[in-house]
Amino acid sequence: MEDVTDPAFRLLCKRFGADMVYTEFVSSDALIREVNRSVQKLTICEEERPVAIQIYGKETEAMVGAAKMVEAAGPDVLDLNFGCPVKKVAGKGGGAGMLQNIPKMLEITRAVVDAVKIPVTVKTRLGWNDESRIIVDLAEQLQDCGIRALTIHGRTRAQMYTGQADWTLIGKVKENPRMKIPVIGNGDITTPERARECFDRYGVDAIMIGRGSFGRPWIFREVKHYLETGELWEDPGFRWKMDVLKRETLDSIARLDERRGIIHIRRHLAASPLFKGLEDFRHTRIEMLRAETVDELFGIMDRIANRWGSSSCSGNVPQQLHPETQETDPMCYTSSEYMSRIDP
Ligand SMILES: Cc1cc2nc3c(=O)[nH]c(=O)nc-3n(C[C@H](O)[C@H](O)[C@H](O)COP(=O)(O)O)c2cc1C
Repeated sequence: MEDVTDPAFRLLCKRFGADMVYTEFVSSDALIREVNRSVQKLTICEEERPVAIQIYGKETEAMVGAAKMVEAAGPDVLDLNFGCPVKKVAGKGGGAGMLQNIPKMLEITRAVVDAVKIPVTVKTRLGWNDESRIIVDLAEQLQDCGIRALTIHGRTRAQMYTGQADWTLIGKVKENPRMKIPVIGNGDITTPERARECFDRYGVDAIMIGRGSFGRPWIFREVKHYLETGELWEDPGFRWKMDVLKRETLDSIARLDERRGIIHIRRHLAASPLFKGLEDFRHTRIEMLRAETVDELFGIMDRIANRWGSSSCSGNVPQQLHPETQETDPMCYTSSEYMSRIDP
């Protein structure tokens, strides 16, 4: 996800149990022009595998050129984005804009599949709008182009991110006996119970979690635990979660710099369920989201933990993060203080 799934965040999600992670989408036009910021987004590390690099664009030649650059970066999968609804992408014909030009979408997909040896997958939506919810036919057409998996976000482009994701059509794609490739369902999964329901009711091969991970990278542990045991993961407590967010902040600062790292982390802090429903929190929330240095931010986070974090660490923290791998990890800041609290 753009401005969200940078390498440090992907690694954190991976360590909390995500089976696969995806880069932010990268513009094919920018890649072939070798725009620095876009080329940097191809950076992946061994520890996060399997990892997909995702590209978008509307010109076949640029998409093929970008696909070859992606292949050279060595991801496990190349994912094509035909689902982004925002105006600056879809309005110009890229992302979900491709849902208005299916022949072109299929031409690009075929050309990219032919151009690279790594598996190519696609992520798209149900259709352009309510009148053209074409995903059942489209899924087959994309499969015929040679893609190896399809992710479907259960909304149309017209819906953007509003309303509820409709999984019934995702289920219909899975019911189609001609569909052979894995179908990954996506949209509004924020609880382990909903994850289970999506598998059971719609028969998908995998689920993709997006916004549910903002400020909550441990969601993958929660979901995995529930799927594997049928029981809810024992909540490790407010302070433990706060330490994870601090750790994420430090990783972000190490990768960027203090100012940009803090700006990056604000999206996660703003969306984190950890701060939802806290009494009299409004003023402190504003302070937290305005903090400009790590000292200031951590000071505020400590205050929050002292005032609202009465449920201290339960002592039953599972070992998702391993200090020994941290030492060889070039992308992560190793803070023994936070690591030791996250890894008892
Ligand atoms: C800030 C933001 C950035 C996103 N960037 C991407 C992206 O780069 N590529 C992509 O396939 N989807 C992107 N998405 C869409 C999500 O991957 C996902 O399909 C959508 O949010 C629905 O799933 P969710 O309810 O689990 O979030 C983005 C969503 C948000 C909110």
